[in-house]
Amino acid sequence: MNQEEIKAEIRRLARERNALILAHNYQRDEIQEIADITGDSLALSMEAARTDRDVIVFCGVHFMAESAAILAPDKIVLLPRPDAGCPMADMVTAESLRALKERHPGAVVVTYVNSSAAVKAESDICCTSSNAINVVRSLDAEEVLLVPDRNLGHYIASHVDKRCHFWDGYCPTHERLKVEEIRQALDEHPDALFMAHPECPPDILELAHHICSTSGMYEFARSSPAKKFIVGTEMGILYRLRKENPDKEFILPSATLICPNMKLTSLESLLRSLQTMSPEITVPADVRERAKNALDRMLAVPR
Ligand code: 13P
Ligand code: SF4
Repeated sequence: MNQEEIKAEIRRLARERNALILAHNYQRDEIQEIADITGDSLALSMEAARTDRDVIVFCGVHFMAESAAILAPDKIVLLPRPDAGCPMADMVTAESLRALKERHPGAVVVTYVNSSAAVKAESDICCTSSNAINVVRSLDAEEVLLVPDRNLGHYIASHVDKRCHFWDGYCPTHERLKVEEIRQALDEHPDALFMAHPECPPDILELAHHICSTSGMYEFARSSPAKKFIVGTEMGILYRLRKENPDKEFILPSATLICPNMKLTSLESLLRSLQTMSPEITVPADVRERAKNALDRMLAVPR
């Protein structure tokens, strides 16, 4: 089958299976193009929670499909590449989080959605990059544990009036970005605005004109009068930024801004997943109940 035949077969099978195809903003261009909905982690979780389709095919990484399975337990959730993980999510386990909680018994645990279901189950509330500050501000607590991203944690801490403790996790893709690369891009394009994802290290965020989630970048690029933007996040975001803003220029400051896990899903693996209705992602009931509490509390906080 050629690429066009594969796309046609994906669309036909998705209709036949009554499946909703969700794709994260970092997916390959052709996956974003064929998806029913693209979005950031929060938007995709909300879509999973409210869909009336029977099947959710999650083109993203494992923790995202798990969140969909937690929020939509009566649906079949497929992850075309089960090996698409998130190294940051793997930096914390339920056991290691329990040990930290014992050292800070009065603290509220705020866990980034980039985490396993088992870790969410040990948490009081979840957050994403687009609602993290609002989530922490909404808490009636003096002390919080911010898990697992230390960079997002430091960003949140600089915007809230609470005692914050950080887990020492990070996203290897955003962590690779160097201050010198941003300075060089800003020197070469003095009329450009630098937008950065809060997973970037603090010294990078200091140089940003705007800090936001992936979907926040679409909104900023669309509404800003600027014509040029330096993009401080994974390169998959360029597909929609360029498509939606043909009169604007988007500059990637580093060739290393690529998440290998996000690039695993291909049209071929998406088709195979719909054909075989696998691999299915499920979460054990006891873990699911507790993880759902943390996700539901997050979804109740205004964006
Ligand atoms: P958002 O899409 O929520 O900004 O998340 C970024 C990310 O790294 C997902 O893995
Ligand atoms: Fe994980 Fe970073 Fe890849 Fe997102 S971009 S899936 S946080 S490694």
